[in-house]
Amino acid sequence: MTKPTLAIIGGTGEEGSGLALRWAAEGYSVLIGSRSRERADAAAAELRSMLPPELPARISGDSNAGAANAADVIVLSVPYSSQTGILEQIRAGCQGKTVVSVVVPLKPPRVSRVWRPPGGSAAEEAQLLLGEEARVVAAFQNISATHLKELEHAVDCDILVTGDNGAAKQTAIELARAAGMRGIDAGPLSNSSVSEGLTAVLIGINIRNEVNGSGIRITGV
Ligand SMILES: NC(=O)c1ccc[n+]([C@@H]2O[C@H](COP(=O)([O-])OP(=O)(O)OC[C@H]3O[C@@H](n4cnc5c(N)ncnc54)[C@H](OP(=O)(O)O)[C@@H]3O)[C@@H](O)[C@H]2O)c1
Repeated sequence: MTKPTLAIIGGTGEEGSGLALRWAAEGYSVLIGSRSRERADAAAAELRSMLPPELPARISGDSNAGAANAADVIVLSVPYSSQTGILEQIRAGCQGKTVVSVVVPLKPPRVSRVWRPPGGSAAEEAQLLLGEEARVVAAFQNISATHLKELEHAVDCDILVTGDNGAAKQTAIELARAAGMRGIDAGPLSNSSVSEGLTAVLIGINIRNEVNGSGIRITGV
């Protein structure tokens, strides 16, 4: 089966670049989106240098809008505070496509307290902004960026996938598998407030236990 081309919006950041590396290592073509073409190209070059030499280098840089236009699947990995402005820039490129939101709404300085944004969750707000032709799913909120770039390091976390379109959720579950994790269908997009909120809980667990990569496991499945 042909693998979709992925755009990582905010792919210069820790989370997006870590996911990009894992997907490129599995043979996906990945476009790193940024507000700055220079930062995108630099991040793409750094990620290419981290891939084993035998793997074809399939990571390149672009503007956020250019990456969204060119990709089949769009991964949104930007701070919640900048989500609205960035979604307006990539809206056209998201129509008819799966959009995977990794965004966690946090309210500094109390980032270890669950905070629900006015629209219920960041992913529901993204769905509203992009319109119904974009298939928004929420996933990957509970994995820490800490170990994503250590390809030999398995990520000890399950991925809760929520959304209102079954095929889009399957795409995200396949992307979780490709990145070495187990994706689990966790229901409709309205449930994303729980997976997003869990990240604040995990940040608190990290602080209290002096670790930086706690995660979650769903048992019995
Ligand atoms: N880090 C983690 O461990 C982790 C874990 C789970 C979920 N998340 C969530 O995933 C998303 C991305 O996380 P991250 O740690 O990669 O975030 P980040 O490094 O703070 O930001 C990612 C990218 O977003 C872009 N950006 C756009 N508007 C911005 C603004 N106003 N201020 C700063 N950067 C802006 C920047 O790219 P350009 O400057 O190149 O445009 C930046 O490199 C967030 O919503 C976060 O809550 C993070």
